[in-house]
Amino acid sequence: KSIGSGYASGKIILMGEHSVVYGEPAIAFPFSGTGIQATIQANDLESWIESSFFHGPLSKAPNTMRNVTVLLWYLVKHFKIPEPFYLKIDSSIPAERGMGSSAAVAVAITRAVFDWMEEAATQEKVLHFVNQAEAVAHGNPSGIDATTISGTEPILYQKGIGFRPFQLNMDAFLVVADTGVKGQTRKAVKDIAKLMEMRPYETNKQMRSLGKLTAQAQQAILKNRPQILGDCMNQAQGLLRLLGTSNSHLDHLIQTALENQALGAKLTGGGRGGCMIALAENETSGRRLQRILLDAGARNTWIEGLGVYAHV
Ligand code: PMV
Repeated sequence: KSIGSGYASGKIILMGEHSVVYGEPAIAFPFSGTGIQATIQANDLESWIESSFFHGPLSKAPNTMRNVTVLLWYLVKHFKIPEPFYLKIDSSIPAERGMGSSAAVAVAITRAVFDWMEEAATQEKVLHFVNQAEAVAHGNPSGIDATTISGTEPILYQKGIGFRPFQLNMDAFLVVADTGVKGQTRKAVKDIAKLMEMRPYETNKQMRSLGKLTAQAQQAILKNRPQILGDCMNQAQGLLRLLGTSNSHLDHLIQTALENQALGAKLTGGGRGGCMIALAENETSGRRLQRILLDAGARNTWIEGLGVYAHV
């Protein structure tokens, strides 16, 4: 095959970020509002990367692209990919905003290489490569990003145990808003690890509370009770704030959403910037929230009907 191509969407963590690193359950789904397309083909002189944040020889890729260069190293070794190659990455996922752009770029590239080498890219095979690259980008990833993005359905995820498909079918809409400020997942995860060392009893208790809220949210979704899900989201945000993962930009958008009929609102992903999510009763109220959040300073907003994943 002369050219290989692969696509991956972003992801949204509905409940359970950070506590998922400590073995608690989390709910996440692939987010079709954003995505990354990767294509790969032979090149003449040297291996080359073309993307919005870097274009140049692979050998000169910046340290911030280490997840990509490490992944390529594994893929080249495994497939004996013909070098030099030309890799093009087109992304509509804002980077470092808790939408899983680093896992998505890895999934898209891995799928493109599998396509180029004409091998079926099963989720298991894709994850094998992506998890290794994510370990470099994240430090201590729970694996939720890579697992969600390499699949097609919402999942309930637990580190070390795995995932199971989760029917996220509810009469409500989720509004996602980007603060426009880069999140700091790696730093936030590290700081919580420090808290865990300094105040193990209290921090463990907070993690378990977050886990319980995820379980309650799961029940609320199964019973189609948006009000209860919204309440779980608010309580989770309170705990995430105590753990130091929120910031003023997130708090401002979350407060604005709650003052404007959101049923619940919280950060999503690593926090300290990045995106927030707000639960809206219906599409009209969700679209209104989108406008209000944009006026309040959000860089971008998206809306997703939570009924779209209904398994019929
Ligand atoms: O910020 P993101 O999109 O990479 O989400 C990270 C989720 C965390 O729970 C904070 C970390 C992890 O590895 O699970």
